[in-house]
Amino acid sequence: MERIEYVRVPKGLENVIVDKSSISVSDPEGELIYRGYEIGDLAENSFFEETAYLILKGKLPNEDELGDFISKLKRERDVPDEIFEIFIKLKGKYLTPIDVQRIGLELLMAYDEKWYSQSYDDLILRAIKIISKLATITANGYRIIFKNKEPIKPRYDLGHSENFLYMLKGEVPDNFSSRIFDITMILYMDHDFNASTFTTRCVGSTLSDIYSAISAGLGALKGPLHGGANEKATEMLLKIKDENDAERYIMETLAKKEKVMGFGHRVYKKLDPRTAVAKKIFAKILEKKPQYLNMYKIMLKFEEVMWRERKIPANVDFWIGPIYYTLDLDIPLYTPLFALSRVVGWAAHYIEQVQENKIIRPKADYVGPRGLNFPYKRNWLSKL
Ligand code: CMC
Repeated sequence: MERIEYVRVPKGLENVIVDKSSISVSDPEGELIYRGYEIGDLAENSFFEETAYLILKGKLPNEDELGDFISKLKRERDVPDEIFEIFIKLKGKYLTPIDVQRIGLELLMAYDEKWYSQSYDDLILRAIKIISKLATITANGYRIIFKNKEPIKPRYDLGHSENFLYMLKGEVPDNFSSRIFDITMILYMDHDFNASTFTTRCVGSTLSDIYSAISAGLGALKGPLHGGANEKATEMLLKIKDENDAERYIMETLAKKEKVMGFGHRVYKKLDPRTAVAKKIFAKILEKKPQYLNMYKIMLKFEEVMWRERKIPANVDFWIGPIYYTLDLDIPLYTPLFALSRVVGWAAHYIEQVQENKIIRPKADYVGPRGLNFPYKRNWLSKL
């Protein structure tokens, strides 16, 4: 038998490149690129639908392609009423809004007769369906289950972000809020082989369907070390009174060897480039809403002390959670909002994975016992 040479890689696959991808790349020096374009450039100049097209299809759309993509997204906004009827039955259960996204997504599959298809064109259509309907599910699932309110039908004259905020709140957002929200959606859209994307790709690598793969991605994003950090960081910041209190909190947390939420990153060791954009957004917010100045000063203090003490920079979640807070969005929605955008990346990665597939199936370094004798000899087969 041919001898297999196993390759041992670091725990957590740290610094291990596992496959090729042409979707996005994050660089330790503080760069993030989507399909060749730098994140700051896209955040300042693009909008959700255009960047989503870029991520999914690999190139910027021309005017016709963009118009067609936007119309398809709009046509897919409706969600079957039965899904909302199921949501009504889930009121008061032990669920968070991201679980509702997962449940809603899996129910959506039941209404898609080609859920299993893996042809490129069918997958792009499935991606459009999922991106668009997940927004309706998120807004209305939250309204129904957590707010005891009626669902709101999507509007077809509004952009993706605007329509989402409209369904959530029941009123069309002002331009300032919807633009800021839209920029955060660009910042969150993709991030090479992060944990939830890799999860999605693992499921895709078994040639399971796109709904199952994205549902798994949602499960991975929920964790506080990943997307869940934007909620945890905001909750933490709201308990801090001023800059002195920030210093005290960090020193105590580090002394206890606990994590300060919203800091640290597997790739970025100096700067998460998304925080540079997010800080500019926060500065704009302060021009309109000076009541958040204290929060801003506390956040800068956190950055200063974490860098002084551990040389650890803030990550995207540290800044975006508080931005959502200034937009008057409820904290339990922050990770689902991250998902509303990252779903574009998950879909693109799923498609890339199944098109050049090899099942992802590593080996464990088994450290358990061998050669034990099972003590109860029942001999089932000999008695049959
Ligand atoms: N607070 C305090 N210490 C930290 C932090 C933090 N937030 N992050 C890393 N460290 C320390 C860590 O204790 C370790 O120290 P030592 O070498 O002395 O044991 C060292 O820095 C390396 O950290 P690690 O946890 O081994 O690094 P990792 O690459 O395995 O994990 C991380 C990366 C993001 C999971 C981690 O930094 C973390 O838990 N951060 C807090 C949660 C968070 O903000 N997550 C959002 C991640 S970014 C966007 C997203 O994915 O949503």
